[in-house]
Amino acid sequence: MKTGFSFIVFSLLTLLLVGSCKNAPRKEPSKDLFTLFVEDPDARPFYSDKQGVFGKNGMVASAHEEASKAGLEILQAGGNAVDAAIATHYALAVVFPFAGNLGGGGFAVIREHSGKYHSIDFREKAPLAAHRDMYLDKDGNVIEGLSLKGHLASGVPGSVDGTVEMHSRLGKIAWEKILGPAIRLAEEGVILTEREARGLNSYKKTFLEVNGPQLTYFIKPDGTEWKKGDLLVQKDLAECLKRIRDKGREGFYSGKTADLLVAEMKKGGGIITHEDLKQYKSAWRKPLVSDYRGHKVVSMAPSSSGGVALIQMLKLVEQYPLQQWGWNSEKTAQVMIEAERRVYADRAKWMGDTDFIDIPLDKLISAAYLKERWKDFNPEVASKSSDIRAGDIPGYESMETTHFSVVDKEGNAVSLTTTINGAYGSKVIVEGGGFLMNNEMDDFSIKAGVPNMFGLIGNKANEIAPGKRMLSCMTPTIIEKNGKLFMVVGTPGGSTIMTSIFQTILNVIDHKMTMQQSVNALKFHHQWLPDRTVFEKGAFSDKTLAELRKKGYVMDPQNGTLGRMDCILVYPDGRLEGASDPRADNTSVGY
Ligand code: GLY
Repeated sequence: MKTGFSFIVFSLLTLLLVGSCKNAPRKEPSKDLFTLFVEDPDARPFYSDKQGVFGKNGMVASAHEEASKAGLEILQAGGNAVDAAIATHYALAVVFPFAGNLGGGGFAVIREHSGKYHSIDFREKAPLAAHRDMYLDKDGNVIEGLSLKGHLASGVPGSVDGTVEMHSRLGKIAWEKILGPAIRLAEEGVILTEREARGLNSYKKTFLEVNGPQLTYFIKPDGTEWKKGDLLVQKDLAECLKRIRDKGREGFYSGKTADLLVAEMKKGGGIITHEDLKQYKSAWRKPLVSDYRGHKVVSMAPSSSGGVALIQMLKLVEQYPLQQWGWNSEKTAQVMIEAERRVYADRAKWMGDTDFIDIPLDKLISAAYLKERWKDFNPEVASKSSDIRAGDIPGYESMETTHFSVVDKEGNAVSLTTTINGAYGSKVIVEGGGFLMNNEMDDFSIKAGVPNMFGLIGNKANEIAPGKRMLSCMTPTIIEKNGKLFMVVGTPGGSTIMTSIFQTILNVIDHKMTMQQSVNALKFHHQWLPDRTVFEKGAFSDKTLAELRKKGYVMDPQNGTLGRMDCILVYPDGRLEGASDPRADNTSVGY
């Protein structure tokens, strides 16, 4: 059994208020957000009363204000949504080392204003020297921590190749220009937020343990603790970014940066070689397309399980009158939980890298199959998840991935989720390069039936093989209404990504919330195993909780939070509402 990560932010957050919620027509961004959905004026089903940001010409919603501003700068310089997304991506690698990256990977769903869709998979790959049992000891037991921390935990990074590919197919302005904001932020420094200062301080010991006492990256020069307002300057990272600016893909996968990365791997017993870097290639995938209550839903195909799971959940609940039943009412919650249970069971069995295995994708999202999945549902009692071995499965709360959404004035849109997996990835910082490497190998099923850091179970479909992509939950998604761009959604959150996006979509489409209200709304999550529903305190009224418990549902309130959403809603008059999660530093900027 591997242990879960916990990030300091979760222990410091206290959820505020308790409430229940009734549906209501979508209003303009509400002045009295807290009273919009509730009959009891003291009941508050939202994490906060944060308001959405409005613009007409472009919007960027990301985990950090400076990264959103980097995207906006590129939009205002004539770039399109793809150019802006790339600028935001590289800025996040500087200002949000917690999850932004050069040493990781991700997925993007892109909509051209014409309605044409693209999706790109730049997920990391297992190195060529990887093998199925590389994290097991001679008795076949998992070696604690080996897939999570240190040099052996990394897959071959895909982010640079993915962004170069996106630009060469769909970008508008010069590549060199797009890297400008990130280089500036690395050279001149970024002012640390309270949260990032706390994160760097809490991982200092681990950074030193993994990289050695000579480490200078992310350590405050005078040796004291980082504080909010301190300036983080990253000169070596700036040089890496300049090489990417000047040479594109080759500025990372060959030449000096590649040499530094491979030397770092050799130094710490890692297995990524020059050949791995040379061979890495991202993949344009056919986006997964479905519909929900007349809206077109476009999401990510494997090697992420996210799109399949999201579409399954939406289609499973579509037959129920959720709006009539009300937001997080007992009936609504029950069918959502039962849908989630069935979908995560499918994930464990079927999902993996389609370059290596066959997945019956069409069948999994077909009406006939999903109808069959409801056959054993009894509304009087909770279903049971547990015909697979039970265990003490780690917590759900990891939020170390990052998502951002971009819309430009022509209506091009990008939904992009990227990660180095755990907080600050493997904690390995490439010497001379100053960037963190991922610990994405943990997203493989390193031993059948043993949960990963998100408590997710995997089997043969997701076992390690050289050059294979590890299964992901990332779910960048775009929704259309009446043939027009309607919503761009996504979030980090490991296993909770799909259920957070599921709820956010239902909040807007069924419960008529604004984008920001939907993001602010308290959330819950069930992932088949363990058989329990975790929820942000306040997500259910006491009465609803009692009813669900009476039916046999294990309802488990958490001090932590769910989701770090960054979403954009398009109104019929063309206004864009940027909604960034109040649960962290996330910020939308628009014009
Ligand atoms: N590493 C988290 C995910 O890919 O879902």
